[in-house]
Amino acid sequence: MKFTLDTSQATGLETACLVIGAFEDAPLHESAEMVDKASSGALQQLIKSGDVSTDWKDTTLLHGLDGVNAKRILVLGCGEIEKFNTLRYDSVCSSAGVFLRGHATTSAHICLNEIEVSKTTNHWRLRQAAVNLERANYRYTATKAPKDDDHQPLQSASFNGGPDLQHALDEAAGIARGYVRSMELGNLPPNICNPQYLAEVAQEFAENYKNVSAEILDEDQMAELKMSAMLAVGRGSEYGSRLIVLNYQGKDKESRPTVIVGKGITFDSGGLSLKPGPNMEQMKFDMGGAASVLGAFEACASMQLPINLICVVAAAENMPGGNAYRPGDVLTSMSGKTIEVLNTDAEGRLVLCDALTYSQRFNPTALIDVATLTGAAVISLGHHASIVMSKHDDLADELIDAGNTAIDRGWRLPLWDEYQPQIKSAYADMKNVGGMAAGSITAGCFLSRFTEDQRWAHIDCAGSTWIWGGDKGSTGRPVGMLTQFLIDQA
Ligand code: BES
Ligand code: MN
Ligand code: ZN
Repeated sequence: MKFTLDTSQATGLETACLVIGAFEDAPLHESAEMVDKASSGALQQLIKSGDVSTDWKDTTLLHGLDGVNAKRILVLGCGEIEKFNTLRYDSVCSSAGVFLRGHATTSAHICLNEIEVSKTTNHWRLRQAAVNLERANYRYTATKAPKDDDHQPLQSASFNGGPDLQHALDEAAGIARGYVRSMELGNLPPNICNPQYLAEVAQEFAENYKNVSAEILDEDQMAELKMSAMLAVGRGSEYGSRLIVLNYQGKDKESRPTVIVGKGITFDSGGLSLKPGPNMEQMKFDMGGAASVLGAFEACASMQLPINLICVVAAAENMPGGNAYRPGDVLTSMSGKTIEVLNTDAEGRLVLCDALTYSQRFNPTALIDVATLTGAAVISLGHHASIVMSKHDDLADELIDAGNTAIDRGWRLPLWDEYQPQIKSAYADMKNVGGMAAGSITAGCFLSRFTEDQRWAHIDCAGSTWIWGGDKGSTGRPVGMLTQFLIDQA
């Protein structure tokens, strides 16, 4: 969608839809006040009579209000001002986006950034509004025709503000692009979005963005590097595994990069430790970590942030088969450490350990992996937060702060050494499962053994990256957190 800025008085604008907010118990913001004045108090009257709801996230559409040029006015309820915060503001923007996407208007003028939210800047309010509109605008259509009753997406949105806010719109466009990329990759079926498909997306980035190059390692090249843990996982699949390496240079060559690593299991059947049938189709989302690092990479490249960034995706499919790896196998990882496989469904940590060992050649300032690693992440935090783990307090804080800013939250779990004995093995340096207790943490402990000298963090996004059940689908998360983290590095 096209984003523009407009400083003209909202009441004078010939827009298809003017979008304003209203608290239950606070004065109207500037443009809303103007609408009220121009309509001789009609807006306040409608609020008083209850025809316009001020309940948080409620939406009311008004048509042809006298004295206002806009064809429609969309009023977003903001609730009580006491309770209002960045989270509530963000959901108001999201409600506006969902409403506009579901109605017959293809352009709008957004005044939501005038709403007061403590501890925020106009830059942030405008950016969040724009990102949310674009996220709500997205529809999956790659393998299905749009629904007959689905309206046109928004084509353009103008925002209340002058040229000083152009940067906020540019940032919003970049972040939104990352989210949409991540959602689309997540939603694509596993017979289309296979390891090679992810590799082609990376190659497209190299063609389409300045300062980006891509290198794709096939199975032979990975074998040369002795990535036996990574290769074991893909052995049951007809699709070849790929290690995807994207390089973005936004700063002098000598500056150390940030490295983001994604778990790209394009389908996780569990392998020989086969998963139960119900809901197995959801395991196409097991490349959600890869989708979000690719999304964040694209956001960074499209904004041309002044940082160096490397993105590594471990892409493979986990399938049973005559050549599949088995429970009982002992694998020698690229690091030389050996791993006893007790369950072929704990495959994410096996592809990641080699990808993390590989990533150390870039001498990163921060090494961050993102993965739908454990079902336990869904049990512990549900769908509202990604798990963040790190032995580096400052890095964990930076990621969690970035998530708070982007309204794509993370919550920390410990990586204490006390958990390490759970992955002791009788036959190898470690085993790939840690038992019932603290499943997300023992998965993190496993990865920690491959990142010992690194400033490393692990993000388990199994709960946050997709919505289950009825309206299942990818959320694109944690693109917001990652992109904000990269913006903060710049
Ligand atoms: N991709 C799954 C994790 C997952 C499961 C994410 C369910 C979302 C919903 C991962 O590969 C896996 O299967 N993990 C196992 C590990 C276990 C065998 C130690 C799990 O969490 O059950
Ligand atoms: Mn699995
Ligand atoms: Zn998995």
